[in-house]
Amino acid sequence: MRAARAGGVLRGRRGVVAACARARPSGSGDTGKKTFFCFGAGYTGLGLACALQGDFVVHATTRSPAKQDLLRSCGIVPHLFDPSSGLKLSEEGEEALRSSTAVLSTIPPSTVVGPPHGVDPTAELIREVFSATRGSSLSSSSPPPEGLDWVGYVSTTGVYGERRGEWVTEETPVGSNPVSDRASARIRAEAEWLALPGELPVHIFRCGGIYGPHRNVLRTESKPENVRRRRNQQLVSRCHVLDVVQGLLKSMEAPNSGGIYNIVDDDPAPRDAVEAFALGLVGRPRPTEVVPSSSRQATKRVSNARLKGELGVVLRHPTYKEGMRAIVEGDIRPFTREVLDELIKIK
Ligand SMILES: NC(=O)c1ccc[n+]([C@@H]2O[C@H](COP(=O)([O-])OP(=O)(O)OC[C@H]3O[C@@H](n4cnc5c(N)ncnc54)[C@H](OP(=O)(O)O)[C@@H]3O)[C@@H](O)[C@H]2O)c1
Repeated sequence: MRAARAGGVLRGRRGVVAACARARPSGSGDTGKKTFFCFGAGYTGLGLACALQGDFVVHATTRSPAKQDLLRSCGIVPHLFDPSSGLKLSEEGEEALRSSTAVLSTIPPSTVVGPPHGVDPTAELIREVFSATRGSSLSSSSPPPEGLDWVGYVSTTGVYGERRGEWVTEETPVGSNPVSDRASARIRAEAEWLALPGELPVHIFRCGGIYGPHRNVLRTESKPENVRRRRNQQLVSRCHVLDVVQGLLKSMEAPNSGGIYNIVDDDPAPRDAVEAFALGLVGRPRPTEVVPSSSRQATKRVSNARLKGELGVVLRHPTYKEGMRAIVEGDIRPFTREVLDELIKIK
């Protein structure tokens, strides 16, 4: 385990909140700040960006020219990046990446795979950019690129596939049981990230369903696909975005190259139960088309023991009940008001 620290990013229980309150545009007063580069400025990426903005200059990619302005207005330096359409990172983007202390990718893999490319062009880009910094290929025996403390890749608990209600940990082999095409692509993507030279401090985070402000069952319960899902009692692992961000921050604080972490809460619960609880909180009636049934078996229960034990994460929202209560009470953490407003405009 490398001793390098993402100094100052984690400031105790109130740290994330305090950092979120200090979003400010880059370009002024940034001297001495570290650089954080995020591939994919979506829900999770922006959540972490909010938490880091006080101490880091934040760069983030998007495929959308319109979203560039929006990111700029939130104090984030935007870069266009859309490898599947052939849109590469600009020279300025590569320069920012090279000078980064921490790099995160939240971009999902492509399900279309063909040689010579893998499912995740971002991993390959990182290898190229940091090899160029050194002027030679990276190898497992050479030291890490100067200043780069941490590389994170956000994956999913979907890699575990169907487990018939068993508990799974990060040690559970993946790829041996039936999985969807998307999960197969994700397993390949993880392998591509972990195959980066050992000196690039890669960490994998397998997240359950990510929910939080503006993204939760109260916003989606009436969608037709969710009416269908409501009919079974399948267990779903989930995690509030504030705890996802907390897990990422704790890992940045104590890098452990090659580390894999599940990020889920303590209570894998059926979607039906979450929805019933949330609707009860706001006094809305349950939709009449609900036909709960336990005919389908649970798929898996995902352990968060390593998240708590190794990273020392104390979940702010141990179950959906605390998480949904906080949302209903108007808690927007980890987002700043301005970033959340922009997220609302996007969807
Ligand atoms: N949401 C969940 O419940 C959940 C659960 C477990 C794991 N995950 C995975 O965790 C990661 C983060 O989740 P999230 O909910 O924060 O995702 P999100 O809000 O959808 O954000 C993903 C970001 O990746 C960018 N992106 C997507 N496809 C891309 C492509 N082909 N090329 C370049 N950029 C691309 C998007 O950028 P633009 O749209 O700005 O171009 C978007 O900002 C994702 O990989 C997701 O699949 C999600």
